[in-house]
Amino acid sequence: MRTVVIAGGTRGIGGALAARLRAAGDRVIAIGSADANLTSVRQTAELATRLPDRIDVLVLAAGRFNSRRVETAEGFEQTFAIYVLSRYLLAERLRGSLERAATPVVLNLSGTGGIRAGRLHWDDLQLTRGYTLFRATMQGARANDLLGVLFANRDPDTRIRYILYNPLFVDSGLHRHFRQPQRALVGAAAKIFGASVDATAARLADLLAAPPTTPLTALCRGKPVDLSRPEFDRSAADRLDAVLTKLVDGVLGARH
Ligand SMILES: NC(=O)c1ccc[n+]([C@@H]2O[C@H](COP(=O)([O-])OP(=O)(O)OC[C@H]3O[C@@H](n4cnc5c(N)ncnc54)[C@H](OP(=O)(O)O)[C@@H]3O)[C@@H](O)[C@H]2O)c1
Repeated sequence: MRTVVIAGGTRGIGGALAARLRAAGDRVIAIGSADANLTSVRQTAELATRLPDRIDVLVLAAGRFNSRRVETAEGFEQTFAIYVLSRYLLAERLRGSLERAATPVVLNLSGTGGIRAGRLHWDDLQLTRGYTLFRATMQGARANDLLGVLFANRDPDTRIRYILYNPLFVDSGLHRHFRQPQRALVGAAAKIFGASVDATAARLADLLAAPPTTPLTALCRGKPVDLSRPEFDRSAADRLDAVLTKLVDGVLGARH
C-alpha cells in the first residue's frame, strides 16, 4: 500500500485525486488549511514533522489566489508563501521520508509549459510594487519550474522523481477566489472550457501508477515540456534556492 501525502488534498484537483487513490487502496493523507496553514513557514515546517517517515508520493497542490495583495503574518506575499515557499519546504523536509519508499515521486501541480509569461521579480519577490493576481501567479509558475530543477539537482543520486504537471484549465471551483464580475466569468468559462476534476485526477492517477524514470519531468496536460527551455535555467534555480533558504532561516532560525 502506498502512502500518499496531498498538500491541498481537501478539495479541487487534489481532493479528487485523494478520493480516487483512496478508492484504489492507497493510504492518503489529505491536507487542507484546517490541518496546517501552508501560507506559514512555521506551520509548514511543523506539519512535516507530523507526517510519516516513509512516503511514496508527495503531491503539491495547495494554492490560494487573490486579486489583491495579502501579506502573511511572517511578512510574505500570500501567493509566494503557499505556491513557492511551502512547496519548497515540504519537498525538502520530506526528502528523507521519500527516500525510504521504493519508487518515490513528488508531483507538483503548477503552470509549467503553459502561458509563456511571467518571471521572478528578484528585486521584489514579495511584489510590494505593482501586485496583480496574474503577476503573482506567473511568478509562482516560473518559481515552481525552478523548484523542480533545484530539487533534482541537489542530489544527483536521488531515486525521487520530481514531476511538474500543468493540468491546464480545470473546473475546480478556483473562481471562488475572484471578485465579481471575474468570479462569474471565470466560473462560466471553467464550466465550458475547463477539464473536470475527475478527468484530471484520473490522468494524474495513471501518471502515478507508471511515473517517468528521470529525476525531473515537466508535463503540460501529459505533453512533455522541453527542459532546455529558459524557464529551467540551473543558475536561476541555484539563486532561488539560496534566496528561499535565507527566507526560511529568517523565520525558523539558521539551526532549524
Ligand atoms: N484549477 C486550474 O485550472 C489549475 C490550472 C493550472 C494549475 N493548477 C494548479 O493546481 C493546484 C490546485 O488547483 P485547484 O484548482 O484544485 O485548487 P483549489 O480547488 O483552490 O484547492 C486548493 C487546495 O489548497 C488548499 N489550501 C488553500 N489554502 C491553504 C492553506 N493556507 N493551507 C493549507 N491548504 C490550503 C485547499 O484546502 P482548503 O480549501 O480545505 O483550505 C485545497 O485543498 C493550484 O495550486 C495550481 O498550482 C490549477
